[in-house]
Amino acid sequence: MQRNNLPKIKILATGGTIAGSAEAADKLTGYTAGTMGVESLIGAVPQLADVAEVSGEQLANIDSCDITGDLWFKLAARCNELMADANVDGIVITHGTDTLEETAYFLNLTVKGDKPIVLTGAMRPATAISADGPLDLLNAVKTAACPDARGQGVLVVMNDIIMAARYATKTSAFKVEAFQAQPYGQLGTIAGGRVYFEAQVKQRHTVQSAFAGKNYTALPRVDIIYTHCDDDGVFVEAALKAGAQGIVYAGSGMGSIHKGAEQALINAAAQGVAVVRSTRVSEGRVLPANPKWDAAGFISGGNLNPQKARILLQLALTETKDPAKLQQIFDEY
Ligand code: SIN
Repeated sequence: MQRNNLPKIKILATGGTIAGSAEAADKLTGYTAGTMGVESLIGAVPQLADVAEVSGEQLANIDSCDITGDLWFKLAARCNELMADANVDGIVITHGTDTLEETAYFLNLTVKGDKPIVLTGAMRPATAISADGPLDLLNAVKTAACPDARGQGVLVVMNDIIMAARYATKTSAFKVEAFQAQPYGQLGTIAGGRVYFEAQVKQRHTVQSAFAGKNYTALPRVDIIYTHCDDDGVFVEAALKAGAQGIVYAGSGMGSIHKGAEQALINAAAQGVAVVRSTRVSEGRVLPANPKWDAAGFISGGNLNPQKARILLQLALTETKDPAKLQQIFDEY
């Protein structure tokens, strides 16, 4: 293969199981995530050299359950720089799978540019029998190097599937088939070693996002409150006390609010705290459902899951506190 015209792909490593190691090849749980460096990940996949000219940067090496906004800000700033770098055609980010969908959605809203950005990870540590990381990395680099990936927003590649960051979500705590794109966002596949795109996402992202290119260094506090039997609003009070400017209420069914928590949420909205109704249910759409909630100015979260609704609300609150404008943002993104 002629190698000097290959696409130039930057791999930004942040840790996770893809960079994890265990004492034995058959130890698939209880290992340490984020122990291997980006050069080891690249070195484990010699086939990358046939697909792209890859170079690596280590931005962090953590278990992604410990993610903080600071790493999002660092990643977004670096991706924004790389969008303007003529020596880079696409970006792959290796990441722990636990919170990969959140980082992917944050970057989907905050990076300005149409070069492909692909997040990938693994469910088995790098030392495991049948480790899934090397193939995921190869597939992610192939996707980032594919001209059809341009302008598709931030992508997630896991287990041969290409998903939109807007929809990709982790649905299994241990299987290699750990992610699904619910309910619409499977954009393509990698099959027979080739990348196939079959769909596009309509919601605003990257170049059309009002939040893109701004290089945030802090965001308003937004808490997620998960309803349950006997929900009594105590966490709403706690969120307000902690200084929350927004609350995402992961309600039951179509964003239903327990009567024990309802008045606390209405009081919060009356104090200027944005309240988004989301749902504990993995599929479906939260719509306006109750005139009392509409009158209180609650925002319907649509089909964003609570963890992604939180990110959109954090960003939206940097622009407006007006419930009608916040609802418009939720409808468009
Ligand atoms: C992590 O999210 O960092 C650990 C779990 C994983 O990558 O699968």
